[in-house]
Amino acid sequence: MGLFPPTPFFIEQAASLIKKGGLVAFPTETVYGLGANALDPIAVAKIFEVKGRPHFDPLIIHILDISFLDFLCQNVPDQARILAQKFWPGPLTLVLPKKKIIPDLVTSGLQTVAIRIPSHPIALELIRISGVPIAAPSANPFKYLSPTTAEHVLNQLGNKVDMILEGGPCSIGLESTVMDLSNDEPCILRPGGLALEEIESVIGPLKTHFPPKKKGSLNSPGQLERHYSPRTPLKILEEGEFPKGNFGKIGLLAFKTISRKWNAVKIEILSPQGDLKEAAAHLFSSLHRLDEAGLDIIYAEPVPEIGLGIAIMNRLRKAEMKIQKSNIKNQNDKSKFKMPPL
Ligand code: TXA
Ligand code: MG
Repeated sequence: MGLFPPTPFFIEQAASLIKKGGLVAFPTETVYGLGANALDPIAVAKIFEVKGRPHFDPLIIHILDISFLDFLCQNVPDQARILAQKFWPGPLTLVLPKKKIIPDLVTSGLQTVAIRIPSHPIALELIRISGVPIAAPSANPFKYLSPTTAEHVLNQLGNKVDMILEGGPCSIGLESTVMDLSNDEPCILRPGGLALEEIESVIGPLKTHFPPKKKGSLNSPGQLERHYSPRTPLKILEEGEFPKGNFGKIGLLAFKTISRKWNAVKIEILSPQGDLKEAAAHLFSSLHRLDEAGLDIIYAEPVPEIGLGIAIMNRLRKAEMKIQKSNIKNQNDKSKFKMPPL
């Protein structure tokens, strides 16, 4: 338990924990993962238990190289191989028809499996030494903000995992882009660390970017409306909007350097120059800090919806669901929220 430096000794220890059916939190280039041997259903069951994750939400399997694709998947289409060649290791997860060897628990009983090769050297070393594919969701309690530092994992899951490998802040900071290639019409199930434009530059324009919502079911459980949420209510501002009233202690998640005076207790700037890559890398850390500041509300400035901006806005909208659905009453309750002058 606790944080361990990623020395060869501790990576060996972590790998032997994985082989024995334990849980290890480890850094990837996107977010920290909570890993277990993907071929061991009992170990995988512990992931769901520790995260408080419902069993209908399947996991991503992390592999070491492309040759494992055919070990775990069948009927792999050419497009999947082309994308894997181009973007692996990296922040792209492919959903493909699965083989029987994968326990049903990993895929929540679906006939498809989500796979990626992470590009973080510690993650790769852990998979290599374990000698097994590693199933790993983001290492956070279900629905809460994803962890982009080892401290986030320690604070959220601490003593529930066998070991946390310390690898510094994640360079991309957003979960992988999840793409479904299991049927004739490839589409994006979750925007993420690899921009849609990059995918389309390799395989051409997708007919549909995001699948239409199926009534009563989820294409990808990660599409659950409320997700990636801070505990503090969050509200996305309109472009150039400045909140009129004031709802107590406010925090601001600004996209770039701000030009007007804000009466905010805490301000986080995602990227002073307005660079979307930098903003993505800082998104979850900034939200974690705002969430810990004892605020009544977090206002988030919108970012342009191009490149990684699509995934950033997707996460902010999911975080916002909370205020729309359950805190709207509080917003209007002026007796609860004092109105300090702006
Ligand atoms: O960057 C990432 O993807 C991180 C790191 C640790 O790799 N992992 C991650 O895992 O974000 P998780 O479990 O938090 O999100 C996995 C997403 C969920 O939205 C899940 O519903 C979707 O992938 N998914 C997994 N298997 C699927 C499948 N067979 N079909 C459709 N969606 C699937
Ligand atoms: Mg997650």
